[in-house]
Amino acid sequence: MCGIVGFAGNKTACGKPLEVCMQGLKRLEYRGYDSAGVALAAAGMDTVAVRKKSGRLANLAADIERSPMPDATVGIGHTRWATNGEPSDVNAHPHTSQDGKIAIIHNGIIENAETLRLDLQTEGYTFLSATDTEVAAKLLGKIANTIIEETGKPDLFEALRRMARMLTGAFTILAVDVRQPDIVVGARHDSPLVVGLGDGENFLGSDVAAFVAYTKEAMELDQDQAVCISGDTVTVTDFDGNPVTDSKRFTVDWDASASEKGGWDSFMDKEIHEEPAAVHNTLLGRFNEDGEIKLDELHIDPEVFKQIDKIIVVACGTASYAGMVAKYAIEHWVRIPVEVELAHEFRYRDPILTPRTLVVAISQSGETMDTLMAVRHAREQGSRVLAICNTQGSTIPRESDAVLYTHAGPEIAVASTKAFVAQIVAAYLLGLYFAQVKNTLYRDEIHQILDQLKAMPEKIQWVLDNDVEPIEEAAKKLLDAKSFLFLGRHVGYPVAMEGALKLKEIAYTFTEGFAAGELKHGPIALVEPGEPVVIIVPSSRGRNVLHNKVISAIEEVKARGAFTVVVAEVGDPDAEKYADVVFWRPECATLLSPLVDVVPLHLFAFDLAKLKGYDVDKPRNLAKSVTVE
Ligand code: AGP
Repeated sequence: MCGIVGFAGNKTACGKPLEVCMQGLKRLEYRGYDSAGVALAAAGMDTVAVRKKSGRLANLAADIERSPMPDATVGIGHTRWATNGEPSDVNAHPHTSQDGKIAIIHNGIIENAETLRLDLQTEGYTFLSATDTEVAAKLLGKIANTIIEETGKPDLFEALRRMARMLTGAFTILAVDVRQPDIVVGARHDSPLVVGLGDGENFLGSDVAAFVAYTKEAMELDQDQAVCISGDTVTVTDFDGNPVTDSKRFTVDWDASASEKGGWDSFMDKEIHEEPAAVHNTLLGRFNEDGEIKLDELHIDPEVFKQIDKIIVVACGTASYAGMVAKYAIEHWVRIPVEVELAHEFRYRDPILTPRTLVVAISQSGETMDTLMAVRHAREQGSRVLAICNTQGSTIPRESDAVLYTHAGPEIAVASTKAFVAQIVAAYLLGLYFAQVKNTLYRDEIHQILDQLKAMPEKIQWVLDNDVEPIEEAAKKLLDAKSFLFLGRHVGYPVAMEGALKLKEIAYTFTEGFAAGELKHGPIALVEPGEPVVIIVPSSRGRNVLHNKVISAIEEVKARGAFTVVVAEVGDPDAEKYADVVFWRPECATLLSPLVDVVPLHLFAFDLAKLKGYDVDKPRNLAKSVTVE
């Protein structure tokens, strides 16, 4: 959702605060937005310098180019994904206090904004916008002036804390005040905020991408904490002003360049081609030369794992499909039930949770509010929570008992691709660790599966090297299709769901993903001549009962005139017989096949969206991280 950047550093006014804010907002563009703005402060200013424009960041940059902003010592920047008040210059952030001396930016929804607005209006405050953020700006200005009357001097940090205690809802708020032009203050509740630690300068951001170009040293801020940064100091307190001295520091494990396109036309294309590395890097360091799984990073006593008798995966969208894939593997290897729940449904179904239930929260961003709320519910019910996450310092890992990070590198495109395969691998590692601790697999079996996993990056690369042309051809052939059906069985079923979702979210095409066995129970009625049906076919080797059933499904839709697009293992004896198009993938173990089956579907969705002329990185109506419920 909204992108947030803050900078404090310079003793003398200069252009750096604006530079940091604009570059930070550029790196946060992927989060999805509809307007952008910056506020600057420096000694001698009577009011904060604010510039904001609806539309792309380029509109704001052009406006500043035409009419330069003043040099400054501190700055805050914001990209807005409208929640209340339509996208417009007036509703864009920053918003200012009545006297114009304070500016704030905000991510989240302030639920008691209307009550506060009415109270302020009765005191004569006036409002230009329809936003909850402007209410907070006017309120903060009022509180700040009250403090000056009380103490004779400005204290923006205390003013923000007092206001934070008055707000309900989710918020990350940053503020600057021309009367204290050496600091930026921030506060967070149910919304992300991290600190960037520089040398003679410090940063704030909704995630580390905001400042990674300037520093890779970062610090987490926990729920209901406030922070004040200057060039030389970072002070953290709770909302009552009590000092916090144990904030967790970390080093960002990727370079700024990783969040740039690096010569690719789009982040999505780059990230699909990073899928082999995402798998490789997520495996790295998590097993020893004897094939023993090493997850010391979880800091959970193996005896605790032994006691776990049920796993519930909570996640949304693509992350939930990764959980569905993991279910098949973990239940097979560990012999305990694995439920996969959409996070937004989880807590409302009154789930059965005990201290022997492990809830696994899968989230690329670590900020999905639906998943965060599920995590909180699980912990309130006494279950342990383990996060599988791709973003260091994000909220979900912080509020979990343990985290198994995927090392896919920053995923910028809204459509999740490399994170999906990395999430599956992380879940497989967790499953193998369970099997190792519970002795449900022999060590040599674990070692064999690990060897198969280690070979997967190369197999994914084979698809990227060999399937690009046939997939491009298929996309051209199916450019005008109005809908697609996606079928899969066993671990191919969640892959079908993922392939369907990708076409929905970036090619804006109606798709239906479902289990191949469901075909005769209804969906086959959708099949008419020419209807594209994409089928993920399990290997014909080994337990090929699945293969034969899926081939039957292909025959059924083919008999009704469907255009069949088949994802099949190289050498499959039946694929070409029934397929109009085949996307081949290398031979691999059935349980690991999603890691290669999904790659052609990611490429196909990408190609179709490109042919349609859509923005593959920033699809309409979507944000990279859904931080509101
Ligand atoms: C996937 O392509 C979508 N962007 C969306 O379904 C996403 O997977 C979902 O919103 C969960 O996001 P998270 O992994 O950051 O929690």
